Amino acid sequence: MIRALYPGSFDPITNGHLDIIERASRLCDEVLVTVLPNTSKSPLFSIEERVAMIEEVVAPFHNVSVKMHAGLLVDFADEQNAQVIIKGLRAVSDFEYEFQMALMNRKLNQKVETMFLMTQSQNSFLSSSLVKEVARLNGCIKGLVPETVERVIRHKFRSGLTDDREG
Ligand code: PNS
Repeated sequence: MIRALYPGSFDPITNGHLDIIERASRLCDEVLVTVLPNTSKSPLFSIEERVAMIEEVVAPFHNVSVKMHAGLLVDFADEQNAQVIIKGLRAVSDFEYEFQMALMNRKLNQKVETMFLMTQSQNSFLSSSLVKEVARLNGCIKGLVPETVERVIRHKFRSGLTDDREG
C-alpha cells in the first residue's frame, strides 16, 4: 500500500500540477495533495481558497484527497503514514531547488522517499506565478489551469480582491 504526499503551494493549481496528480494516482494507492505555505512566496490565494479549488478539480479521482499543513512536510508524512513524496520536475532550473529539498527532507526523515515525475512537454513552461502574471495583465490563461480555477482567478482580479503584491 503506497500512500504518497504531493506537496506544494498551489497558488493556484495549474494543469501541470493536475497532470502530475493524475499520473501519481495511477502509480500509488493513495495521493494526498498537501497544501503548505512557502515562506519565500507571498500568496495570492488563502490556503482555504487553494484547497477548495484543488478539491473541486480532483473530485473525479477516487484515491486523491486534499489536506493542508503548516509545519514540516516530513512530519506530516509521518502523521499520515505516507512513505513517498511526489514532486514534478519541469526543467533543469527546477532541479537544484528540488534536489536540495529532497536531500533536506531525507536528512530530517530517512523513512520518506522523494519520487520525481517529469512534466509533459506541453506543460514545461507552465507555473502558477506566470499564470497569475498573465491573468493580472488580462491575458488568456485558457488551457493553462482548469476552467473552474480560471473563473476564480478572473473573479479575484476583476473584483479587486487582491493587493497585487505577487512576485
Ligand atoms: O510549490 P512550491 O512553492 O515549490 O512548494 C514548496 C513546498 C511548500 C513544498 C516547500 O516549501 C515545503 O515543503 N514547505 C513545508 C515546510 C518544510 O517542510 N520545509 C522544509 C523543506 S526542505
